[in-house]
Amino acid sequence: MTETRTAALDHVADFPAIPAGWAYLDTAATAQKPQPVIDAITRAYDSSYATVHRGVYQRSADMTLAYEAARRKVASFLGAGSADEIVFVRGATEGINLVAHSWAGTQLKAGDRILLSQLEHHSNIVPWQMVAERIGAHIDVLPLTADHRIDLDAMAAMITPQHKLVALAHVSNVLGSVLDGKRAAEIAHSVGAKILLDGCQSVPRMRVDMAALDCDFFVFSAHKLYGPTGIGVLWARPELLDVMPPYQGGGSMIDSVSFERTTYAPPPGRFEAGTPHIVGALGLHAAIDYVESIGLDRIHAHETALVTMTREALSQINSLTLFGPEDSAGIVSFSIQGVHPHDIGTILDEAKVAVRAGHHCAQPLMASLGVDATARASFGVYNTAADVEALVRGIERVTRIFG
Ligand SMILES: Cc1ncc(COP(=O)(O)O)c(C=O)c1O
Repeated sequence: MTETRTAALDHVADFPAIPAGWAYLDTAATAQKPQPVIDAITRAYDSSYATVHRGVYQRSADMTLAYEAARRKVASFLGAGSADEIVFVRGATEGINLVAHSWAGTQLKAGDRILLSQLEHHSNIVPWQMVAERIGAHIDVLPLTADHRIDLDAMAAMITPQHKLVALAHVSNVLGSVLDGKRAAEIAHSVGAKILLDGCQSVPRMRVDMAALDCDFFVFSAHKLYGPTGIGVLWARPELLDVMPPYQGGGSMIDSVSFERTTYAPPPGRFEAGTPHIVGALGLHAAIDYVESIGLDRIHAHETALVTMTREALSQINSLTLFGPEDSAGIVSFSIQGVHPHDIGTILDEAKVAVRAGHHCAQPLMASLGVDATARASFGVYNTAADVEALVRGIERVTRIFG
């Protein structure tokens, strides 16, 4: 195996749930939580807990300030124009469903077209199928290039003025391929279509900026960014949020209610019915502080170096097929001839290496790769060259066991 060439990040000590000798390589599914995030969540519950937006007492007013400070933090992290463009949702899945239901469901009409790609996560496919079926719209699918990126030349050739929405993964959760989001936005906008980027896998591993990307909607989940589960973000251009009706009704999202007529709060409150995930927002704030304290550029360089090491080592194994481009971001998918990925995962687990095995909620991608499933190693700030070495040793054992 080649010498260690990582950008020398080693933050494993910040993560109490990672015991010594355990190589956690499943960050693309969910990231482990650093102590500052755990502390922020504990503090919120054990010393400053109260509801938000309603209380007249000091504790609630303070919690409201903290909750809204988290929204401002997300806005600055994403390079958004204002905190009002940030909608707290349960996660990326809910963010996409919200756009599908409230924007596409009201702005698209029968015969309109939606453009997705072959590598999308099910949560960026199924909500569009549901809305398309309801309104009589059609879905078209962008192919991948030979090295497993979304083919933007094909996008330029395929897109028509009938396409009203394009929804693409900024980074593939299976292949790690990084989309040129700005070019995709330019192509979408050239026919007047809006573009949603699924930032689940980009936000934890590279700097993102809404103005630079020039997209229209952007979603991510906090739990993949070292934050808590149950909270995520939808960013949208304010003029798009303005035309979107509420997705759910209830407390907090109203202006006034009577049995004759209810009026709704302006965005983002209009989309946050019910008591929100208050502590989740504070945990997300701490998670953003955490990654910013390390630096997204350093995280990206670190993970890219680990990917290069992994791909170089695995490419020496004849029976192993690597998927995705050479410069994939933090994620390496592979299969071994004659070995089910679940067996790979089980044998690696015996060696204290945790990888994901399965279809990764991307069955159409699996079909296009000609496999039912892959094994996937994905990196975070706590991984080091030693984890890659443990992975490679484990895979060598798999190939010995299976002859
Ligand atoms: C690219 C991508 N999109 C969407 C999702 C869905 O995220 P969540 O389940 O947190 O809503 C995931 C999660 O694996 C993902 O990797």
